[in-house]
Amino acid sequence: MQIAISDKQSFSTNKKLEEIKDGYLVLPIFEGEKAKFSSELVSSFLKENPKFGKLYEVQLLYSPNLKIVLIGLGKKDKFDFGKLQNFAGAATKYLLAKTEEANLALPKGLSLSGEQIGQALSIGIQLMDHDPSLDYKSKKEPHKLKKINLLSSDPKLRQGLERGNLLSGSINLARKLADMPANELSPTVFLNHAKDLAKANNLEITVLDEAHAKKKGMGAFVGVAQGSDEPSYLIALEYTGNSSSKEKWGLLGKGITFDSGGISIKPSSNMHEMKYDMCGAAAVLATMQVLAKLKVKNNIVGIMAVTENLPGGKAQRPGDIVRTYSGKTAEVLNTDAEGRLVLIDAIAWAQKDFKANKLIDLATLTGAIVISLGDFNTGVFTNNVQFAKQLINAGGQVGEKYWLMPMDEDYDEMIKGEIGDITNIGHGGSMPGAAGSITGAKFIEAGVKENIPWIHLDIAGTAWDSKPKPYRGAGATGVGIKTLVKLIEGDK
Ligand code: BES
Ligand code: MN
Ligand code: ZN
Repeated sequence: MQIAISDKQSFSTNKKLEEIKDGYLVLPIFEGEKAKFSSELVSSFLKENPKFGKLYEVQLLYSPNLKIVLIGLGKKDKFDFGKLQNFAGAATKYLLAKTEEANLALPKGLSLSGEQIGQALSIGIQLMDHDPSLDYKSKKEPHKLKKINLLSSDPKLRQGLERGNLLSGSINLARKLADMPANELSPTVFLNHAKDLAKANNLEITVLDEAHAKKKGMGAFVGVAQGSDEPSYLIALEYTGNSSSKEKWGLLGKGITFDSGGISIKPSSNMHEMKYDMCGAAAVLATMQVLAKLKVKNNIVGIMAVTENLPGGKAQRPGDIVRTYSGKTAEVLNTDAEGRLVLIDAIAWAQKDFKANKLIDLATLTGAIVISLGDFNTGVFTNNVQFAKQLINAGGQVGEKYWLMPMDEDYDEMIKGEIGDITNIGHGGSMPGAAGSITGAKFIEAGVKENIPWIHLDIAGTAWDSKPKPYRGAGATGVGIKTLVKLIEGDK
């Protein structure tokens, strides 16, 4: 989608808006706001409907030539980057099939910089414009909307738009991969995307296939991979932006291209959604692309553990004990708790072979986090609360919400092994699955060396939407990418 800044004239005053006499004009309205816009149409509507303005509420008003689309912004004191992004998404959603070009007025009096405003608007528009069904429907209905004119005179908007377009391009790549069905996105196809991206962005790539992973002693990864006939890979992409620094970020992504549960097979209802079990790996891939394009002054390794979890003839069995690359042994009591298995080896690989010393993993790890937090907050687990607070704060600045979960030592008992060191599901709680997201995080933590700051993001609730949102279509969301870029870039 083309996003232009209206160069006709300055739109810093509402008076100028009245110069738009035809076509579509989107007008943001805060809840309870008295419109200063002197259009008779708008002011009489708001007089009749004084409660208009609830978040993402839409109302069309029209005179013969001008169609005004009012969009509610909710309460002004609660407005932020994320809601501005979503406002642009809601506007785009309304316009997509209706017109080729539209004008969009900006909310006034925001406590965001012009750069942030441009970024938020661009991301909201481009994320809504992305439509995975266009790759599959035989009868395509491409979006009519081609161009949005932002009515603003702020010169800072332009650099924000550029950055927003860069970010949303990568976010939409991650979403596209995640929305692909598992028959089209095998681990090998994912690897090919990673290879292309590495080449285009000058990233160093290292790939371990199953045989190589086995030889290195990555028994947990191999245990999961062996149930599928498709080849599996551990992929590392490296970016070096500050060769004189020893600091090295390790970003790790769970990349299960399909999770059937393995021998501990899942119930069939909603199993099709387990094509999304690679959203962590897609987020890592996209984040590496953005960081490289922005030429950040940091060192980063992005690791993706990519395999299917299937119950083939060679599949691992409940009760198997695997030797992980961390040195610890793990009892596989449930083959459906496979994400933590692939990640414990990936995280050891990041530390031992790449010397990463600041770790963040992203994983659609547990159904339990969906029960706890629903669609809106990503669960945060850490061995270093200060580090996690930096991430949560970065998320707040870019409209991604996080919630810090407990990691007390008390929970360690719940993954203690009978004959192995640790178990891949929790036990000893007051009901099966008790503290399911925390015991999952505890398992991954077992692969983290002492004094290495580490954050685990359980994105199972936030990585995809089963139903459309008022500001974004259904499917993968690309969660995490904006936050990671903000956090890492801020740490120079
Ligand atoms: N990929 C799933 C987690 C998941 C489930 C994400 C539903 C989103 C929606 C993960 O591999 C899994 O199966 N976790 C199990 C763990 C359990 C066996 C301890 C779960 O959450 O049920
Ligand atoms: Mn599973
Ligand atoms: Zn899974």
